[in-house]
Amino acid sequence: MTALLDLFSALSATAGDATFWMPERASTFADEVDGPFYVVYWISVFFTLLISALLIYFVVKYRRRGETSPDTADAPTHHTLLEVTWTALPLMLVIVLFYVGFEGYMNMELPPQNAMQVDVTAQRWSWTFTYPENGWQDAELHVPGDRPVQLLMRSTDVLHSFFVPDFRVKKDVVPGKFSRIWFESPNDTGEPTEHWLLCAEYCGKDHSRMIARVVVHPTYESYAAWLEDAADIFNKYPPHVAGSILFEKRGCVQCHTTDGAPLTGPSLKGAWSRAANRDTEFEAFGRIDLENYDGLVENYLREAILYSQAKIVAGYPENMPTFKGQLDEQEVAALIAYIKWLDEEGHVGSALEAWRGENPEAAAAVEGGAN
Ligand code: CUA
Repeated sequence: MTALLDLFSALSATAGDATFWMPERASTFADEVDGPFYVVYWISVFFTLLISALLIYFVVKYRRRGETSPDTADAPTHHTLLEVTWTALPLMLVIVLFYVGFEGYMNMELPPQNAMQVDVTAQRWSWTFTYPENGWQDAELHVPGDRPVQLLMRSTDVLHSFFVPDFRVKKDVVPGKFSRIWFESPNDTGEPTEHWLLCAEYCGKDHSRMIARVVVHPTYESYAAWLEDAADIFNKYPPHVAGSILFEKRGCVQCHTTDGAPLTGPSLKGAWSRAANRDTEFEAFGRIDLENYDGLVENYLREAILYSQAKIVAGYPENMPTFKGQLDEQEVAALIAYIKWLDEEGHVGSALEAWRGENPEAAAAVEGGAN
């Protein structure tokens, strides 16, 4: 049967290439998915053409001629050999296809013992990846190409679906339970390669924006170097810059802009001064009363991040997930510093870009040759 799989693979393209119906082949599953797909595809093409051609031929050959009925007395009613053939051949064909499909399915269901694990959290409308080595959470999925990777996935709200077309892996992420998927994506290019993760289950307004970059590092060493560097934000950057990085890494950016334009949630630009000037309006609670927050905008923003459902800004949906337990106090303080920075004249977008522009030497020192 392995020989059969090899034959199926040979009928499709060589590794790495996209084909007409299939995207780039970037995991070890590509052969066992594309092979059977193209076999079924070409069988379908063959029979569609054969049956259509015979149909046209018979329509012409046996068309009605004149008024007399043809004599059907001698016409055959059975042909045992023909009937056994057209039953047995398709039966064998579908048994073989079932075997190949089942073998591939079992292979995709059961991760190898040595697979490294990354935790995946899906929420409207972003993906968060938690790395086992140091607990760093990122909005990009980084994996080493030299070993199998299994993902333990959960959803904090509704049904999502994890889909990386280049890897041929797809699985529902269901609230209230874990699901698992694994893949191995060999990368011998010497450079990190990029792929796209899509959400493949309609999950609300911004479903189509629920995408994430997948980066495959050639080796575990280069993956580990990326991870160590990515996690080190508080040593490398001032708090508001660290907050700007967290804003992008933890999915805030999916729903909040930094230039004043409303999105799913209110823009973070101006959020500070709206609260400080007592202009923030809440659904059901009316105008903000800063005395409830000891007079500190920081306390209001902390509540808005950690207990996002406590008060909803008027005119926006109750969509924001709570970040209680997801962000520690240092991270919350950094995000608040970033929101405060955004409120200053001329500050929009990434504080990291702005900081790099203003402090080229310090940036070169902490970022060096990394990335
Ligand atoms: Cu998540 Cu669609």
